[in-house]
Amino acid sequence: MLDVKDITLYYGAAQALRGVSIKAEPGKVTCVLGRNGVGKTSLLRAMVGQYPIASGSIEFDGADISGLRPYERARKGIAFVPQGREIFPLLTVEENLKTGYAPLPRDQRNIPDDVFSLFPVLNSMLGRRGGDLSGGQQQQLAIGRALVMRPKLLLLDEPTEGIQPSIIKDIGRAISYLRNLGNIAIVLVEQYLDFACELGDHFAVMDRGAVKFSCDRSTLDPAEISRAMAL
Ligand SMILES: Nc1ncnc2c1ncn2[C@@H]1O[C@H](COP(=O)(O)OP(=O)(O)O)[C@@H](O)[C@H]1O
Ligand SMILES: [Mg+2]
Repeated sequence: MLDVKDITLYYGAAQALRGVSIKAEPGKVTCVLGRNGVGKTSLLRAMVGQYPIASGSIEFDGADISGLRPYERARKGIAFVPQGREIFPLLTVEENLKTGYAPLPRDQRNIPDDVFSLFPVLNSMLGRRGGDLSGGQQQQLAIGRALVMRPKLLLLDEPTEGIQPSIIKDIGRAISYLRNLGNIAIVLVEQYLDFACELGDHFAVMDRGAVKFSCDRSTLDPAEISRAMAL
């Protein structure tokens, strides 16, 4: 479904990705781990088309999408929950959710029930401004907005960062529910190892712009991942 092959990415002269390959498939969670500054967000930006790659390829559903604009990738079903959430603080919760309509044909422009069953707080706060929500509620809103797009591929950039434990649980439940639907591929970027280990099917640890260690759930050894993250 998603097949990233040997991509490189530069910010001017600084190389942020050095030949990264990674896959994601429906019904599975691919976790990308690593400390600050190793290139996790750059990898997601490359997938959504926010920043161009210099070499390599990004295949989605069998086609190379690396030349497509971000809105074209969104129309193909790629949704991104950015680090720091980036909700619109002056728009209401409902208006924020409806920004997810942009890539959808008119007859699909409604908020799926799932969004409110996963995150009931959004239903009770529909008329409130995004900026009035707590950090955890904003994270739920950012995930809800991505789900409004009916994604085939959901990219989450550190969804637990700075979030209180009770809401981290809700977010974990939401991710495992979405995985169990079986038709959505999920890429979860995390530094919170326990959270990733609970949810992940495939694991890749990045260091200095490259994947330094990878394994599947069947061979998962959290201590080994922790060591790779500390390198
Ligand atoms: N817009 C940018 N311009 C220049 N350098 C950047 C930019 N964004 C990130 N970087 C640099 O690229 C490297 C990887 O950053 P990033 O992908 O954000 O890492 P991570 O998400 O793992 O913390 C870091 O050295 C960072 O300073
Ligand atoms: Mg980041």
